[in-house]
Amino acid sequence: MAVSVTTLLGHNVVRSVVLLTSLSLSFVKTVLVTGGAGFIGSNLVRHLLRTPVRVVVLDALTYAGNLANLDGVIDGERCVFVRGTIGDRSLVAKTVTTYAVTHLVNCAAESHVDRSIHDSRPFLETNIMGTQVLLDVAREMGIQRFLQMSTDEVYGSLTATDEPFSTYSPLRPSSPYSASKAAADMLVGAAVHTHGLHAIVTRCSNNYGPYQFPEKFIPLMIVNALSQGPLPIYGDGRQVRDWIHVDDHCRGVMLALEHGNAGDVFLFGGNAERSNLDVVTRIVQLTGASASLIRHVDDRPGHDRRYAVNTSDVEHTLGWKPIIPFEEGLEDTVRWYAEHSTWWQAILSGEYRTYVEQTYPAPSAGQPS
Ligand SMILES: NC(=O)c1ccc[n+]([C@@H]2O[C@H](COP(=O)([O-])OP(=O)(O)OC[C@H]3O[C@@H](n4cnc5c(N)ncnc54)[C@H](O)[C@@H]3O)[C@@H](O)[C@H]2O)c1
Repeated sequence: MAVSVTTLLGHNVVRSVVLLTSLSLSFVKTVLVTGGAGFIGSNLVRHLLRTPVRVVVLDALTYAGNLANLDGVIDGERCVFVRGTIGDRSLVAKTVTTYAVTHLVNCAAESHVDRSIHDSRPFLETNIMGTQVLLDVAREMGIQRFLQMSTDEVYGSLTATDEPFSTYSPLRPSSPYSASKAAADMLVGAAVHTHGLHAIVTRCSNNYGPYQFPEKFIPLMIVNALSQGPLPIYGDGRQVRDWIHVDDHCRGVMLALEHGNAGDVFLFGGNAERSNLDVVTRIVQLTGASASLIRHVDDRPGHDRRYAVNTSDVEHTLGWKPIIPFEEGLEDTVRWYAEHSTWWQAILSGEYRTYVEQTYPAPSAGQPS
Protein backbone atom coordinates (compact mmCIF):
# COMPACT_ATOMS: atom_id res chain seq x y z
CA MET A 1 0.00 0.00 0.00
CA ALA A 2 1.62 3.22 -1.15
CA VAL A 3 1.08 6.22 1.08
CA SER A 4 2.49 9.52 -0.08
CA VAL A 5 4.41 11.75 2.27
CA THR A 6 2.49 14.83 1.30
CA THR A 7 -0.85 13.08 1.39
CA LEU A 8 -0.38 13.28 5.11
CA LEU A 9 1.30 16.63 5.36
CA GLY A 10 -1.77 18.59 6.28
CA HIS A 11 -3.09 15.95 8.67
CA ASN A 12 -2.43 15.60 12.31
CA VAL A 13 -0.05 13.26 14.03
CA VAL A 14 -2.85 11.05 15.38
CA ARG A 15 -3.97 10.26 11.86
CA SER A 16 -0.38 9.42 10.88
CA VAL A 17 -0.13 7.02 13.81
CA VAL A 18 -3.36 5.29 12.82
CA LEU A 19 -2.11 4.84 9.27
CA LEU A 20 1.21 3.63 10.53
CA THR A 21 -0.43 0.97 12.61
CA SER A 22 -2.43 -0.17 9.62
CA LEU A 23 0.82 -0.53 7.69
CA SER A 24 1.96 -3.06 10.33
CA LEU A 25 5.36 -1.46 10.18
CA SER A 26 5.95 -2.75 6.65
CA PHE A 27 7.48 0.45 5.44
CA VAL A 28 6.69 1.53 1.92
CA LYS A 29 9.29 4.26 2.05
CA THR A 30 12.54 4.19 3.90
CA VAL A 31 14.36 7.49 3.84
CA LEU A 32 18.08 7.53 4.51
CA VAL A 33 19.00 10.89 6.04
CA THR A 34 22.75 11.34 5.99
CA GLY A 35 23.93 13.94 8.50
CA GLY A 36 20.68 13.35 10.39
CA ALA A 37 22.31 14.05 13.76
CA GLY A 38 23.17 17.61 12.72
CA PHE A 39 21.05 20.73 12.96
CA ILE A 40 18.87 20.60 9.85
CA GLY A 41 19.10 16.82 9.53
CA SER A 42 17.68 16.18 13.01
CA ASN A 43 14.84 18.65 12.44
CA LEU A 44 14.11 16.98 9.10
CA VAL A 45 14.03 13.54 10.74
CA ARG A 46 11.30 14.79 13.09
CA HIS A 47 9.31 16.15 10.14
CA LEU A 48 9.66 12.88 8.23
CA LEU A 49 8.54 10.82 11.21
CA ARG A 50 5.21 12.66 11.22
CA THR A 51 4.52 10.75 7.98
CA PRO A 52 4.38 6.96 7.55
CA VAL A 53 7.96 6.34 6.57
CA ARG A 54 10.91 4.66 8.21
CA VAL A 55 13.99 6.83 8.68
CA VAL A 56 17.56 5.65 8.79
CA VAL A 57 20.11 8.18 10.01
CA LEU A 58 23.68 7.73 8.83
CA ASP A 59 25.99 10.17 10.56
CA ALA A 60 29.72 10.25 11.25
CA LEU A 61 29.11 12.21 14.48
CA THR A 62 31.78 14.76 13.74
CA TYR A 63 32.10 17.60 16.26
CA ALA A 64 28.85 19.00 14.76
CA GLY A 65 26.81 15.80 14.98
CA ASN A 66 25.00 15.22 18.23
CA LEU A 67 22.85 12.25 19.19
CA ALA A 68 21.11 14.39 21.76
CA ASN A 69 19.51 16.14 18.76
CA LEU A 70 17.60 12.89 18.22
CA ASP A 71 16.67 12.21 21.85
CA GLY A 72 13.42 10.26 22.03
CA VAL A 73 13.44 9.76 18.26
CA ILE A 74 15.72 6.79 17.59
CA ASP A 75 13.87 3.60 18.50
CA GLY A 76 15.68 1.01 16.35
CA GLU A 77 12.47 0.33 14.42
CA ARG A 78 10.93 3.37 12.78
CA CYS A 79 14.06 5.39 13.27
CA VAL A 80 17.40 3.65 13.09
CA PHE A 81 20.83 5.13 13.71
CA VAL A 82 24.02 4.04 11.97
CA ARG A 83 27.32 5.69 12.74
CA GLY A 84 29.66 6.11 9.78
CA THR A 85 30.88 8.35 7.04
CA ILE A 86 29.25 8.91 3.68
CA GLY A 87 32.70 8.39 2.19
CA ASP A 88 32.57 4.70 3.19
CA ARG A 89 31.09 3.13 0.10
CA SER A 90 30.63 -0.37 1.50
CA LEU A 91 28.93 0.93 4.65
CA VAL A 92 26.59 3.12 2.61
CA ALA A 93 25.74 0.20 0.29
CA LYS A 94 25.19 -2.14 3.23
CA THR A 95 22.94 0.38 4.96
CA VAL A 96 20.86 0.83 1.80
CA THR A 97 20.47 -2.95 1.40
CA THR A 98 19.85 -3.74 5.05
CA TYR A 99 17.06 -1.22 5.41
CA ALA A 100 15.71 -1.35 1.83
CA VAL A 101 16.26 2.38 1.45
CA THR A 102 14.04 3.96 -1.22
CA HIS A 103 14.83 7.68 -0.75
CA LEU A 104 18.06 9.42 0.21
CA VAL A 105 18.40 12.97 1.57
CA ASN A 106 22.00 14.10 1.89
CA CYS A 107 22.36 16.58 4.74
CA ALA A 108 25.85 15.35 5.70
CA ALA A 109 28.41 18.06 5.25
CA GLU A 110 31.18 20.06 6.75
CA SER A 111 29.19 23.25 7.08
CA HIS A 112 31.14 25.99 8.84
CA VAL A 113 32.72 28.62 6.56
CA ASP A 114 35.34 29.66 9.14
CA ARG A 115 36.59 26.09 9.45
CA SER A 116 36.82 25.77 5.66
CA ILE A 117 39.11 28.80 5.57
CA HIS A 118 41.47 27.20 8.10
CA ASP A 119 41.43 23.70 6.55
CA SER A 120 39.50 22.95 3.38
CA ARG A 121 40.41 19.26 3.15
CA PRO A 122 37.52 17.78 5.20
CA PHE A 123 35.17 19.93 3.11
CA LEU A 124 36.45 18.46 -0.13
CA GLU A 125 36.38 14.93 1.29
CA THR A 126 32.87 15.01 2.72
CA ASN A 127 31.04 17.56 0.61
CA ILE A 128 32.44 16.50 -2.77
CA MET A 129 33.85 12.96 -2.53
CA GLY A 130 31.22 11.83 -0.03
CA THR A 131 28.39 13.12 -2.20
CA GLN A 132 29.81 11.24 -5.19
CA VAL A 133 29.87 8.02 -3.15
CA LEU A 134 26.19 8.52 -2.30
CA LEU A 135 25.32 9.23 -5.93
CA ASP A 136 27.16 6.08 -7.08
CA VAL A 137 25.48 3.87 -4.49
CA ALA A 138 22.06 5.43 -5.21
CA ARG A 139 22.46 4.62 -8.90
CA GLU A 140 23.81 1.12 -8.41
CA MET A 141 21.12 0.19 -5.90
CA GLY A 142 18.21 1.78 -7.73
CA ILE A 143 17.25 4.35 -5.09
CA GLN A 144 14.03 6.03 -6.23
CA ARG A 145 14.81 9.59 -5.20
CA PHE A 146 17.94 11.42 -4.17
CA LEU A 147 17.85 14.89 -2.65
CA GLN A 148 21.01 16.95 -2.23
CA MET A 149 20.69 19.66 0.41
CA SER A 150 22.65 22.68 -0.74
CA THR A 151 22.96 26.34 0.03
CA ASP A 152 22.37 29.78 -1.48
CA GLU A 153 26.04 30.45 -0.73
CA VAL A 154 26.89 28.72 -4.03
CA TYR A 155 25.74 31.96 -5.75
CA GLY A 156 28.37 34.06 -3.97
CA SER A 157 27.78 37.52 -2.58
CA LEU A 158 25.41 40.37 -3.49
CA THR A 159 25.84 44.11 -3.12
CA ALA A 160 23.18 46.14 -1.34
CA THR A 161 21.55 47.06 -4.66
CA ASP A 162 21.74 43.70 -6.50
CA GLU A 163 18.60 41.72 -7.26
CA PRO A 164 18.19 38.71 -4.92
CA PHE A 165 19.43 35.31 -6.12
CA SER A 166 17.03 33.33 -8.23
CA THR A 167 17.23 29.60 -8.90
CA TYR A 168 19.37 29.84 -12.00
CA SER A 169 21.63 32.71 -10.96
CA PRO A 170 25.24 31.92 -11.92
CA LEU A 171 27.26 29.91 -9.39
CA ARG A 172 30.03 32.10 -7.96
CA PRO A 173 31.03 30.48 -4.67
CA SER A 174 33.55 32.47 -2.68
CA SER A 175 34.63 30.29 0.27
CA PRO A 176 36.06 26.76 0.28
CA TYR A 177 32.79 25.68 1.92
CA SER A 178 30.53 27.15 -0.76
CA ALA A 179 32.90 25.99 -3.53
CA SER A 180 32.67 22.42 -2.22
CA LYS A 181 28.86 22.65 -2.11
CA ALA A 182 28.74 24.04 -5.66
CA ALA A 183 30.96 21.17 -6.83
CA ALA A 184 28.58 18.67 -5.23
CA ASP A 185 25.59 20.33 -6.92
CA MET A 186 27.35 19.92 -10.28
CA LEU A 187 28.03 16.24 -9.55
CA VAL A 188 24.33 15.74 -8.84
CA GLY A 189 23.49 17.38 -12.16
CA ALA A 190 26.00 15.12 -13.90
CA ALA A 191 24.45 12.00 -12.33
CA VAL A 192 21.03 13.07 -13.59
CA HIS A 193 22.30 13.87 -17.08
CA THR A 194 24.66 10.93 -17.53
CA HIS A 195 22.99 8.15 -15.58
CA GLY A 196 19.37 9.21 -15.40
CA LEU A 197 19.43 9.28 -11.59
CA HIS A 198 16.27 10.79 -10.10
CA ALA A 199 18.08 13.48 -8.15
CA ILE A 200 17.05 16.93 -6.97
CA VAL A 201 19.02 19.82 -5.48
CA THR A 202 17.57 22.15 -2.88
CA ARG A 203 19.36 25.37 -2.00
CA CYS A 204 18.47 27.41 1.03
CA SER A 205 19.40 30.62 2.78
CA ASN A 206 20.68 30.79 6.37
CA ASN A 207 18.68 28.61 8.77
CA TYR A 208 18.05 29.18 12.47
CA GLY A 209 16.07 27.24 15.07
CA PRO A 210 16.44 24.50 17.70
CA TYR A 211 19.43 22.13 17.78
CA GLN A 212 21.82 24.38 15.86
CA PHE A 213 25.41 23.87 16.94
CA PRO A 214 26.50 26.88 18.99
CA GLU A 215 29.39 27.86 16.71
CA LYS A 216 26.93 29.26 14.16
CA PHE A 217 25.97 32.92 14.35
CA ILE A 218 22.51 32.95 15.95
CA PRO A 219 23.00 30.15 18.54
CA LEU A 220 26.47 31.47 19.39
CA MET A 221 25.03 34.89 20.12
CA ILE A 222 22.14 33.43 22.10
CA VAL A 223 24.23 31.16 24.33
CA ASN A 224 26.83 33.87 24.89
CA ALA A 225 24.12 36.40 25.71
CA LEU A 226 22.47 33.94 28.11
CA SER A 227 25.88 33.36 29.75
CA GLN A 228 26.69 37.10 29.84
CA GLY A 229 29.70 36.38 27.59
CA PRO A 230 31.15 38.55 24.79
CA LEU A 231 29.16 38.83 21.54
CA PRO A 232 31.83 38.86 18.81
CA ILE A 233 30.63 40.34 15.56
CA TYR A 234 32.69 40.38 12.37
CA GLY A 235 33.75 43.79 10.99
CA ASP A 236 31.04 46.43 10.93
CA GLY A 237 28.26 43.85 11.42
CA ARG A 238 26.44 45.13 8.34
CA GLN A 239 26.60 41.77 6.52
CA VAL A 240 23.09 40.79 5.49
CA ARG A 241 21.61 37.29 5.58
CA ASP A 242 18.17 36.09 4.56
CA TRP A 243 17.08 34.11 7.64
CA ILE A 244 14.72 31.17 7.42
CA HIS A 245 13.33 29.07 10.25
CA VAL A 246 14.48 25.46 9.97
CA ASP A 247 10.85 24.24 10.05
CA ASP A 248 10.05 26.24 6.91
CA HIS A 249 13.14 24.79 5.23
CA CYS A 250 12.24 21.20 6.22
CA ARG A 251 8.72 21.66 4.89
CA GLY A 252 10.18 22.74 1.56
CA VAL A 253 12.55 19.78 1.45
CA MET A 254 9.67 17.36 2.09
CA LEU A 255 7.71 18.90 -0.80
CA ALA A 256 10.73 18.81 -3.11
CA LEU A 257 11.38 15.16 -2.24
CA GLU A 258 7.81 14.26 -3.05
CA HIS A 259 7.15 16.40 -6.11
CA GLY A 260 10.54 17.24 -7.61
CA ASN A 261 11.46 15.96 -11.05
CA ALA A 262 14.92 14.64 -11.88
CA GLY A 263 17.31 17.55 -12.34
CA ASP A 264 15.12 20.11 -10.56
CA VAL A 265 16.74 22.77 -8.41
CA PHE A 266 14.64 24.45 -5.72
CA LEU A 267 15.67 27.66 -3.96
CA PHE A 268 14.24 28.38 -0.51
CA GLY A 269 14.62 31.57 1.50
CA GLY A 270 12.99 33.27 4.45
CA ASN A 271 12.18 36.67 2.89
CA ALA A 272 13.81 38.08 6.01
CA GLU A 273 16.95 40.04 5.18
CA ARG A 274 18.58 41.26 8.39
CA SER A 275 22.05 42.60 9.15
CA ASN A 276 24.12 40.70 11.69
CA LEU A 277 24.12 43.77 13.92
CA ASP A 278 20.31 43.95 13.85
CA VAL A 279 20.06 40.26 14.77
CA VAL A 280 22.48 40.59 17.70
CA THR A 281 20.73 43.71 18.92
CA ARG A 282 17.42 41.83 18.96
CA ILE A 283 19.00 38.86 20.77
CA VAL A 284 20.38 41.26 23.39
CA GLN A 285 16.85 42.62 23.91
CA LEU A 286 15.24 39.17 24.06
CA THR A 287 17.76 37.77 26.55
CA GLY A 288 17.98 40.90 28.67
CA ALA A 289 21.78 40.93 28.19
CA SER A 290 23.78 44.15 28.06
CA ALA A 291 24.53 45.71 24.65
CA SER A 292 28.03 46.40 26.00
CA LEU A 293 28.77 42.69 25.42
CA ILE A 294 28.85 43.32 21.64
CA ARG A 295 32.47 43.33 20.38
CA HIS A 296 33.47 44.12 16.82
CA VAL A 297 36.31 41.78 15.77
CA ASP A 298 38.42 41.56 12.58
CA ASP A 299 36.29 40.59 9.62
CA ARG A 300 36.41 37.08 8.13
CA PRO A 301 38.64 36.96 5.02
CA GLY A 302 36.49 37.12 1.88
CA HIS A 303 33.34 37.59 3.95
CA ASP A 304 30.25 37.58 1.69
CA ARG A 305 28.40 40.85 2.18
CA ARG A 306 24.83 39.97 1.40
CA TYR A 307 22.65 36.98 0.57
CA ALA A 308 19.05 37.40 -0.51
CA VAL A 309 16.72 34.97 -2.18
CA ASN A 310 13.82 35.33 -4.57
CA THR A 311 11.42 32.51 -3.73
CA SER A 312 8.89 33.08 -6.51
CA ASP A 313 9.99 29.89 -8.34
CA VAL A 314 9.22 27.57 -5.42
CA GLU A 315 6.00 29.42 -4.68
CA HIS A 316 4.96 28.57 -8.22
CA THR A 317 6.33 25.01 -8.55
CA LEU A 318 5.80 23.65 -5.03
CA GLY A 319 3.22 26.04 -3.61
CA TRP A 320 5.72 26.73 -0.82
CA LYS A 321 6.25 29.95 1.12
CA PRO A 322 8.06 30.65 4.37
CA ILE A 323 5.38 31.03 7.04
CA ILE A 324 7.31 31.71 10.24
CA PRO A 325 7.99 35.44 10.61
CA PHE A 326 11.60 36.09 11.61
CA GLU A 327 10.75 38.05 14.77
CA GLU A 328 8.48 35.27 16.01
CA GLY A 329 10.90 32.49 15.04
CA LEU A 330 13.82 34.26 16.70
CA GLU A 331 11.87 34.75 19.92
CA ASP A 332 10.91 31.06 19.96
CA THR A 333 14.51 30.09 19.28
CA VAL A 334 15.86 32.24 22.11
CA ARG A 335 13.27 30.63 24.39
CA TRP A 336 14.30 27.15 23.20
CA TYR A 337 17.97 27.78 24.02
CA ALA A 338 17.05 29.27 27.40
CA GLU A 339 14.99 26.16 28.21
CA HIS A 340 17.59 23.69 26.87
CA SER A 341 20.73 24.94 28.55
CA THR A 342 21.75 21.37 29.45
CA TRP A 343 21.83 20.56 25.69
CA TRP A 344 24.26 23.32 24.79
CA GLN A 345 26.22 23.23 28.03
CA ALA A 346 27.00 19.54 27.39
CA ILE A 347 28.29 20.50 23.94
CA LEU A 348 30.40 23.35 25.22
CA SER A 349 31.87 21.27 28.04
CA GLY A 350 32.69 18.38 25.66
CA GLU A 351 30.60 16.04 27.82
CA TYR A 352 28.56 14.74 24.92
CA ARG A 353 31.69 13.65 23.00
CA THR A 354 32.61 11.34 25.84
CA TYR A 355 29.11 9.89 25.75
CA VAL A 356 29.26 9.42 21.97
CA GLU A 357 32.59 7.61 22.02
CA GLN A 358 31.34 5.30 24.76
CA THR A 359 27.99 4.62 23.10
CA TYR A 360 28.95 4.52 19.43
CA PRO A 361 32.70 3.99 19.28
CA ALA A 362 34.02 4.69 15.78
CA PRO A 363 34.55 3.04 13.40
CA SER A 364 33.48 -0.52 14.18
CA ALA A 365 30.01 0.39 15.44
CA GLY A 366 29.22 1.88 12.05
CA GLN A 367 27.93 -1.40 10.65
CA PRO A 368 24.18 -1.82 10.45
CA SER A 369 23.06 -4.91 12.30
N1 LIG B 1 22.75 25.71 8.42
C1 LIG B 1 22.39 26.46 7.39
O1 LIG B 1 22.09 27.65 7.52
C2 LIG B 1 22.32 25.86 6.00
C3 LIG B 1 21.73 26.61 4.98
C4 LIG B 1 21.61 26.03 3.71
C5 LIG B 1 22.10 24.77 3.49
N2 LIG B 1 22.71 24.08 4.49
C6 LIG B 1 23.20 22.73 4.18
O2 LIG B 1 22.38 21.84 4.90
C7 LIG B 1 23.13 20.68 5.29
C8 LIG B 1 23.02 20.50 6.79
O3 LIG B 1 23.55 21.66 7.42
P1 LIG B 1 23.57 21.79 9.01
O4 LIG B 1 23.57 23.23 9.32
O5 LIG B 1 22.56 20.90 9.60
O6 LIG B 1 25.02 21.20 9.31
P2 LIG B 1 25.60 20.58 10.67
O7 LIG B 1 27.04 20.91 10.64
O8 LIG B 1 24.78 21.00 11.84
O9 LIG B 1 25.38 19.02 10.50
C9 LIG B 1 26.13 18.26 9.61
C10 LIG B 1 25.98 16.80 10.01
O10 LIG B 1 26.71 16.01 9.07
C11 LIG B 1 27.47 15.05 9.78
N3 LIG B 1 28.63 14.71 8.96
C12 LIG B 1 29.70 15.48 8.65
N4 LIG B 1 30.55 14.81 7.87
C13 LIG B 1 30.00 13.58 7.66
C14 LIG B 1 30.39 12.43 6.92
N5 LIG B 1 31.54 12.41 6.22
N6 LIG B 1 29.57 11.37 6.90
C15 LIG B 1 28.40 11.36 7.62
N7 LIG B 1 28.00 12.42 8.35
C16 LIG B 1 28.78 13.51 8.37
C17 LIG B 1 27.85 15.74 11.08
O11 LIG B 1 28.19 14.78 12.09
C18 LIG B 1 26.56 16.48 11.40
O12 LIG B 1 25.66 15.66 12.11
C19 LIG B 1 24.55 20.93 4.81
O13 LIG B 1 24.70 20.29 3.57
C20 LIG B 1 24.62 22.43 4.60
O14 LIG B 1 25.53 22.74 3.58
C21 LIG B 1 22.83 24.59 5.74
